[in-house]
Amino acid sequence: MRKILVTSALPYANAPLHIGHIVEYTQTDIWARFQKMRGNACWYICADDAHGTPIMLHARQKGIAPEELISAMSAEHQADFRDFHISFDNYHSTHSEENRELAGLIYERNLAAGHITSRKIVQAYDPEEKMFLPDRFIKGECPKCGAADQYGDNCEVCGATYSPTELKNSYSVVSGAKPVEKETEHFFFKLADFEDMLRKWTRGGHLQPEVANKLDEWFEAGLREWDISRDAPYFGFEIPGHPGKYFYVWLDAPIGYMASFKNFCEKRGLDFDEYWSEESDTELYHFIGKDIIYFHALFWPAMLDGAGFRKPTTIHAHGFLTVDGQKMSKSRGSFIKARTYLDNLDPEYLRYYFAAKLGSGVDDIDLNLEDFVQRVNADLVGKVVNIASRCAGFISKRFDGRLSAKLAEPELFKAFADARDTIAEHYEKREFSRAVRKIMALADKANQYIDEKQPWVVAKKEGREQELQDICSTGINLFRVLMVYLRPILPGTAEKTEAFLRIAPLQWEDAAEPLLDHQIDKFKALMTRVDPKKIQAMVEASREDMQAKPQKSTRPASKQDAIADTIAFDDFAKVDLRVARIIKAEAVEGADKLLALTVDLGGETRNIFAGIKAAYKPAELEGRLTVVVANLAPRKMRFGVSEGMVLAAGPGGKDIFLLDPDEGAEPGMKIK
Ligand code: MSP
Ligand code: ZN
Repeated sequence: MRKILVTSALPYANAPLHIGHIVEYTQTDIWARFQKMRGNACWYICADDAHGTPIMLHARQKGIAPEELISAMSAEHQADFRDFHISFDNYHSTHSEENRELAGLIYERNLAAGHITSRKIVQAYDPEEKMFLPDRFIKGECPKCGAADQYGDNCEVCGATYSPTELKNSYSVVSGAKPVEKETEHFFFKLADFEDMLRKWTRGGHLQPEVANKLDEWFEAGLREWDISRDAPYFGFEIPGHPGKYFYVWLDAPIGYMASFKNFCEKRGLDFDEYWSEESDTELYHFIGKDIIYFHALFWPAMLDGAGFRKPTTIHAHGFLTVDGQKMSKSRGSFIKARTYLDNLDPEYLRYYFAAKLGSGVDDIDLNLEDFVQRVNADLVGKVVNIASRCAGFISKRFDGRLSAKLAEPELFKAFADARDTIAEHYEKREFSRAVRKIMALADKANQYIDEKQPWVVAKKEGREQELQDICSTGINLFRVLMVYLRPILPGTAEKTEAFLRIAPLQWEDAAEPLLDHQIDKFKALMTRVDPKKIQAMVEASREDMQAKPQKSTRPASKQDAIADTIAFDDFAKVDLRVARIIKAEAVEGADKLLALTVDLGGETRNIFAGIKAAYKPAELEGRLTVVVANLAPRKMRFGVSEGMVLAAGPGGKDIFLLDPDEGAEPGMKIK
């Protein structure tokens, strides 16, 4: 019996799961379920990744403690996982005592061995919030194209990459203040100390070949010291002996795998050291997405090595999910939350579809919604379940639910049973699409058999009772073997099958022997066809999910935010809102979204740039009344100075609506 510990990457406690995540958890779950069916001791461990600046600020934004946010999010994640039949043996959090201790221990051991160093660095700092700012929390005008509101690391309009100091008119997303440069001491993990070990390890069969090749590029570029500390305020673990300094979220995140397992060992009386000591002969597998290879294939083995723990047996990276050939997109409705899928469709469909597409490589996988309907209906409903439904009626009506004592076609059954080693090998190597192909070829054979034997014809003839019972019992047995092979992918359907056949949970070796002279239940539909209307409804709901949020907000927002986030009356009173007449509107050369407006504020004219080009033709606007913020400080933009702001409502793009005072209002009137 093998002893296996399996993990999936720990999802951030900052956002709900989407169907891209589900690729990974499905892949890992199928593999773990397969190992368990084979009789191995296999533990599938996960946790929420609860630390970091985005989580701290998100909680602050909602006016709650980070602990409260992460516990609500963990509950949400776990409900999604449960409903997708993801069968973790333990689900914990990186914000746990086990993790605090293990992170401290791994740090101390690496420190004692000389692998940690510290030095002063200069970083962007928000002088109002008194906090250092990660790149993603600085915005400004793109140094290349001048687009407004771009992040500190890259421009979404022209694609340029740069450092936050190059942004023009930069501001902190947290407070709006202009960031300043400030010196601070940081701690670094000396990755280069491990170069020899890592070069050997990454070529030692612990990585997929294409991943090992990628690492060669990284070795070429040189292994730089890794910044493992962050300054207060930060949501995480304080570094022992250094008040005000915290471990960077990515330091304690992978240690969260160990911490969750430790928590599990304590509950189950298992021996933690047996799995994690340097001499361990147990197996350890991490399933991850290709975006986080660097952390898992370099930092993680090095940290473990430096602290005297075992290293992973292998790391399995997978590709990213696209929907209808494109990156998941909010506006197309293809950014589908796990919950939105579950509200509309059966999780088994998606598990099957992903399995049918997943191989052992890092290629992206595409969810084509039309193909999804086709494939699930044709394979699962049309082929697999059909075998049972074609035979079960005769068994219950004509033979009181009793299967024959022998098979009509033992050779055919043997061919099905004999496929188990090949299919097992495909599962073991994570070649799920191959396993599925093989299983569906067998399903075709089973249907051919029934087509040839025509039980519905035999049933009408006198004196052929035994033949009818044997044919149908053979059909049911072929179906049962297929369900053994599909059980890692379709645990829900397998469970219904076990109830229908009145049998114990199927194990892999059950495929070797037929079920004979056995009482079964009446057949109930095991799975229904995918209704294409439900797909439509899911896409619609996904579009709505996104529109509920303010556009392009860098702060994660929800409906509650709008309520929790109040301003004092005095703050409101400072805003000078005025009726204005648009006297001129024209496109701005070189700007995709902007119109240049000249507005009359009752005697005073102003130039204002407004991002409403997609929604209005300039000619439609001229002469129209609207509302502007009259006392906004002038802002210098690439195209000129903007002397105010027009007010509009809506999610953005084409769907943006200028506020429209009633006729009778006069330019310059103050809005009360
Ligand atoms: N918290 C880190 C992981 C820490 S592991 C010690 C993280 N979290 S995540 O929520 O962003 O992603 C969790 C996993 O989901 C990652 O392995 C990531 O690659 C995977 N996926 C996220 N989006 C995905 C797709 N669109 N498609 C496939 N997998 C994707 O990274
Ligand atoms: Zn740009």
